[in-house]
Amino acid sequence: MIVPFMKPKDLAYPFSFRDRRLFVERDVFYLPNYLSSYEGFDPKLPLGHPRIFIEFCSGNGEWIIQKALENPDIQFIAVEKLFLRVQKIFSKRENLGIKNLFLVSGDINLLLEHFLPDDTVDTLAVNFPDPWPKERHSKNRLFHKNFVAHIQRILKPHGEVFVVTDDSGFSEWVYEAMKGDFKLKKEDVKKPLPNHGSSFFQRLWESKGKDIFYHHYQKGSYVGCEFFK
Ligand SMILES: C[S@@+](CC[C@H](N)C(=O)[O-])C[C@H]1O[C@@H](n2cnc3c(N)ncnc32)[C@H](O)[C@@H]1O
Repeated sequence: MIVPFMKPKDLAYPFSFRDRRLFVERDVFYLPNYLSSYEGFDPKLPLGHPRIFIEFCSGNGEWIIQKALENPDIQFIAVEKLFLRVQKIFSKRENLGIKNLFLVSGDINLLLEHFLPDDTVDTLAVNFPDPWPKERHSKNRLFHKNFVAHIQRILKPHGEVFVVTDDSGFSEWVYEAMKGDFKLKKEDVKKPLPNHGSSFFQRLWESKGKDIFYHHYQKGSYVGCEFFK
């Protein structure tokens, strides 16, 4: 039997910007910006599964595809705002026959604001989020106060957060934002997380000799790393 090989462009955006709306098809939730209302729509996120792992800023999906393959008993959700990158994650998922990965094509902040209920997520990973190093762009960074309050809210008790970055200033920013509500052993940030895996940007920065900073936080008290052992 010939298995059809899917290319990224085989996933087409389902509507024009003018007709944009909330929409789910083929386990992809389309979550466009600038809608007049986000109320009353149920995207049927697969949150009923006993173990939920979300990655924000999934890029081309290399990292989460590997994790979904290695952990078929966990339901993964990838969130990426650039549709060209969502297409790449989608084609990898389809070509590898992965069933435990749901995609969100849209902005993390909208997902947090409108669609992620309290106490539903076991693990959150953010690999190489854009650091926005210039002060005048700092409003674009993730891990502002409201963002941290949302992740505190959506995580289950002892839920874990992993953040990996190549930017020392951003690493400090994340630590300062998280330290009040989460637990982290700060001296560990230069120690790679065991079995963390690799992503496109990780390889890029490592090939340029940059230091990589690994954060592992836990909601409530620090009971040890559950996911990466
Ligand atoms: C530097 S790339 C890292 C990609 C991937 N995690 C890796 O390590 O190869 C950051 C990614 O985050 C995405 N991103 C940034 N802000 C976002 C947001 N608010 N919502 C969804 N995705 C976002 C960008 O589109 C980009 O693909």
